[in-house]
Amino acid sequence: MKRRVAILISGRGSNMAALIEAAKAADFPAEIAVVISNRADAAGLERARASGISTEIIPSKPFGKDFAAFEKVLEEKLGQCRIELICLGGFMRLFTAEFVQRWYGRMLNIHPSLLPSFPGLDPHGQALRAGVKISGATVHFVTPETDAGPIVMQGAVPVHDGDTTEALSERILAVEHRIYPEALRLLASGRLKLEGDLCRIDGETADGPFLISPRPK
Ligand code: GAR
Repeated sequence: MKRRVAILISGRGSNMAALIEAAKAADFPAEIAVVISNRADAAGLERARASGISTEIIPSKPFGKDFAAFEKVLEEKLGQCRIELICLGGFMRLFTAEFVQRWYGRMLNIHPSLLPSFPGLDPHGQALRAGVKISGATVHFVTPETDAGPIVMQGAVPVHDGDTTEALSERILAVEHRIYPEALRLLASGRLKLEGDLCRIDGETADGPFLISPRPK
């Protein structure tokens, strides 16, 4: 049986689109049962509908800082859709610790940096200002702390001299779209094991020996 997944978005939904595309494969162990947005104007909603995925809008603004009240409505929807796993894809709303605890081990997020470096806002700008030569993206389990939690998968890209935030974010986005479906595949097929703050992967293999940036002569 495929695991039933909800993707939560607030904006353009390009990671959502990558997950939807991957889940079309007959042997993918998860199905995208619903896309939920906390903003009616999220561009990703149209993309989801065009792919034949059902969508729900739960506007978060009227709830203000009452996070628990928003989550109550969200939980109801997740229950109705018989959701087992959640993928956050640019979902710009904080959760209460209670909600996160309830979904611990069943909720993934993606962040455009090699965590634990550069959590929070403007990770691309943070990377450029730090002058790192390699950055990337991280899929991790969600914990109450923002952009923290056991790391499932990371993908690295070079950072070039003269990179703008836009150029770096575009390069990282390509790796995000590659790793998020893979991380969901691992979770849905039961190959991830949480050991304290770490995530272990059954049958893990790395793609290559290393990535060096800039390229040595
Ligand atoms: C992605 O780059 C994702 O990594 C980032 O928001 C973007 C959403 O784009 N998430 C965070 O920064 C989480 N802290 P998308 O809507 O096109 O998937």
